Amino acid sequence: MSGPNTSYDPVQVTPLNAASVDAMVAEALAAFAAATSTAELKQARLAHAADRSPIALANREIGALPPQARKEVGARVGRARGTITEALKAREEEIKAAELARILVEERVDVTLPVQTQPVGAVHPITALMNLMEDVFIAMGWEVAEGPELEAEWLNFDALNFIPDHPARTMQDTLFVEPDDGGIVLRTHTSPVQARAMLTRELPIYVVCPGRVYRSDEYDATHLPVFHQIEGLAVDKGITLGHLRGTLDHFARAMFGETRTRMRPNYFPFTEPSAEVDLECFVCHGASVGNPDYPCRTCKSEGWIEWGGCGVVNPRVLQACGVDTEIYSGFAFGMGVDRTLMFRNNAEDMRDMIEGDVRFSRALVGTAR
Ligand code: DAH
Repeated sequence: MSGPNTSYDPVQVTPLNAASVDAMVAEALAAFAAATSTAELKQARLAHAADRSPIALANREIGALPPQARKEVGARVGRARGTITEALKAREEEIKAAELARILVEERVDVTLPVQTQPVGAVHPITALMNLMEDVFIAMGWEVAEGPELEAEWLNFDALNFIPDHPARTMQDTLFVEPDDGGIVLRTHTSPVQARAMLTRELPIYVVCPGRVYRSDEYDATHLPVFHQIEGLAVDKGITLGHLRGTLDHFARAMFGETRTRMRPNYFPFTEPSAEVDLECFVCHGASVGNPDYPCRTCKSEGWIEWGGCGVVNPRVLQACGVDTEIYSGFAFGMGVDRTLMFRNNAEDMRDMIEGDVRFSRALVGTAR
């Protein structure tokens, strides 16, 4: 191995003389200044400050210098590297700040712009109201029963004491299902679920049966050929009209707030005695009757609103369904759900209930719940 090269003259070693080191610094600073993006600055850094840059290569040469030359050259190169590193850092910060400023402008979001929300559906007010009605009875320990919409004529009429040529069969404008003599109808009311409940359930029975029913009715603001009813049936020992009254009053108050019911004698083949149930108007409580200064939209200033039918279950119906009438008696009632929604929520046109416009559902759903 040979000793250090004592005749080495740093001034003669081109990369290390002051002029070339200054030139390296000048070139590096110019390249940094010319870079306008992080990517460009990276290229400039690789060219002028990284391991293979002229200044880094010059730095490596220092070790080969004779000891007496190292100090001066080392200081020169060291200063130059410091200047380059400082300049790089400063430019890096400038570029970052400029890029951030640009992003803040370009990607600015106007939070005051109206948003396009994805339209979501709503529970249909009829469904919501039926759920609410069910809840009132479930809270009293009743059960919910369901039956088919395509119903046996026998259950829709015969079991309920409609005689074969009873005018009610036509009165109710029944939709018969082909073949005509097949004995299948679109159920005209939810009352056949009473018969089904008695035929299939253990006594005592406390059930409500909400559902869709069909009649060949007009299609107008107050009639739909397809509508909804809720039926109630209680069969137990010692059932009286008083129990019916109390149940209806409770149901009415749960639906409408402060109100009471009244019964008007009527006829249904499946109950005896039978009655129409009226609600005392839960808005004016009768104050609008004969008072033109205070008309009431809800009851049309009549003070009472017709709500449904009810009665003590006809023993013939109990017998047709195998219930011992010596031991058991029952009461029943049936209300229109669509009608209930109409006066409960001031829905004036029944056709809105089946048009499927979500705005109708959204408007009513909060109040029907
Ligand atoms: N089913 C009757 C109708 O559709 C309503 C009705 C009346 C149901 C009296 C009953 C009742 O349970 O007892 O008009």
